[in-house]
Amino acid sequence: MAGLDYWRTLPIKQQPTWPDADTVAAASAELATQPPLVFAGEVDILRDRLAQAANGGAFLLQGGDCAETFSGATAEQIRNRVKTVLQMAVVLTYGASMPVVKMGRMAGQFAKPRSSATETQGDVQLPSYRGDNINGMEFTPQARIPDPQRLIQAYSQSASTLNLLRAFAGGGYADLHNIHRWTLGFVSDSPQGARYHELSEKISEALTFMAAIGVTPESHPDLHRVEFFTCHEALLLGYEEAMTRVDSTSGDWYDTSAHLLWIGERTRQLDGAHVEYFRGVKNPIGLKCGPTLDADELLRLIDVLNPKNEAGRLTLYGRFGYDKIADRLPGLLRATKAGGRNVVWAIDPMHGNTLTANNGYKTRPFDRILSEVKSFVEICKAEGVHPGGVHLEMTGQNVTECLGGARALSEGDLADRYHTHCDPRLNGEQALELAFLVAEKLKEDRVDLARRAAVSI
Ligand code: PEP
Ligand code: CO
Repeated sequence: MAGLDYWRTLPIKQQPTWPDADTVAAASAELATQPPLVFAGEVDILRDRLAQAANGGAFLLQGGDCAETFSGATAEQIRNRVKTVLQMAVVLTYGASMPVVKMGRMAGQFAKPRSSATETQGDVQLPSYRGDNINGMEFTPQARIPDPQRLIQAYSQSASTLNLLRAFAGGGYADLHNIHRWTLGFVSDSPQGARYHELSEKISEALTFMAAIGVTPESHPDLHRVEFFTCHEALLLGYEEAMTRVDSTSGDWYDTSAHLLWIGERTRQLDGAHVEYFRGVKNPIGLKCGPTLDADELLRLIDVLNPKNEAGRLTLYGRFGYDKIADRLPGLLRATKAGGRNVVWAIDPMHGNTLTANNGYKTRPFDRILSEVKSFVEICKAEGVHPGGVHLEMTGQNVTECLGGARALSEGDLADRYHTHCDPRLNGEQALELAFLVAEKLKEDRVDLARRAAVSI
């Protein structure tokens, strides 16, 4: 097998130009001595959960910031994001009647691919901002110089974020008995908040019934915790290489920076460094599938990334745009189905629906996001493929970044609380609204299936 650093000999996109090779090498060497962030056993559990989704028996909920920031990793922000994911997961589990695999774009989602290597303001041109683990967001020459010390800071911030995530997931906070505590203040007086309250009352009643028959968190400790996985776009291969370790029991290589790593739309070249690198690690891998990807290329990518056709190894995220999905997705679904490829098909309804508002803000209309998700479920159903998950950019905060939603955010509202360092995110309320919609669509699917089964008896 090619060595860990074989990718360095191949064409590579979207990497920063570090000012000095020695300081990057020193930072990477330091990272390589640090403890892993995740463990092989956890990664294997995720692979099993995703295999269940590939086989139609689970649904993946993956979400978080477009770009995490060093200043945004406060306990409050992390907790609010976890609350939103937990709420959405309850809604989806109830609607779809199947386990929901919970995964945060968190604890490592820093590096960003950019459409241009430079940014121009007035007559000043500077290198683009590439994420807090590379350079600074401020538009000054100094801030935009890539700084390898930021890699170390990203590692330690990922570790502290993950520490809190593990505490929330395993320490009782995520216990379903706390279902009423997950509603954020600004969501509670919205229509979605009311709907959630109604659902949580039903679930509380079910829990009371279960307690009456002896099923309690004391008798069933699993009721007390949830599994929560992490993921990020594996863009910066030097960092990923430094975090890759051999598992002493199996002898396999694992990228220990997150449970799942995905390859972005701009770095998925068959002969490129990213595909080569992720071929060699055992983690579940994601692949973004945009409107230019055709079925032949997809099958070739699948065969390189998952040569043994293992279910749970590969998750595909369609990200076409609300107006292109009907044209692009069916052919890809047919190709993977006819070719017997074991993959999870999920939808990223964010990245094909970005536009610039008249006042210059980068935004996404919520109705287009909903429309792409709806089309996804309908097309999957028509093609006989399980709609296996959603991949979202969202936050628990009350931001004003995506247009529309129950509060009908307008272009004029965008300036109020536009905080993202990169792409516009759903706020907590929009995220919950989307979860209700997906739950309804999945439920329709289930009811239809049951009806068809009854007819065929
Ligand atoms: C992202 O997920 O933030 C991203 C850049 O997506 P894509 O690669 O699909 O454009
Ligand atoms: Co993004």
